[in-house]
Amino acid sequence: MIYKIVKYGDPILEKLCEPVTQFDTPDLKQLVTDMFETMYAHKGVGLAAPQVGLPMRLTVIDCSAGEDETQRVVLINPEITALEGSQIGEEGCLSIPGFRENVKRAAKATVQAHDVAGAAFELTGEELLARAIQHETDHLNGILFLTHLSLLKRDIIRRKIRKLVKAGEWS
Ligand code: NI
Repeated sequence: MIYKIVKYGDPILEKLCEPVTQFDTPDLKQLVTDMFETMYAHKGVGLAAPQVGLPMRLTVIDCSAGEDETQRVVLINPEITALEGSQIGEEGCLSIPGFRENVKRAAKATVQAHDVAGAAFELTGEELLARAIQHETDHLNGILFLTHLSLLKRDIIRRKIRKLVKAGEWS
């Protein structure tokens, strides 16, 4: 099932999400399958549960955008445990379509998380994967990439989105 993606302006995107407590259930497995399907349908490399309307600490990432199954990552209740270095690169968000900006992130990120079965694991990513880990973990804390932009850039984007909302082109 492909979910409708929640757009910027919906308060769910700026809420602290709740930890997942039930693992290895058919519902959780289905949700992960559907989130990958939704992310691929929108050509994204990451998608967090609040973006499909569910305030849960769960996110899926695939930096190959569906080209390479081995790059699929499911992070449940993720906690970033180490950040190193820095990188500046263009970032977008499926909840803020049409807007891409340079965002400064750590170059390397280590995260501890649980998989669908509930097993704990640790993952270290660099470059795009590091960026995705940071962007998606931010989502679970109600933080959007706009927060990492200058006030001026953020205001310009907010104003443009307000116009799109008025024109009925943002839903
Ligand atoms: Ni996003």
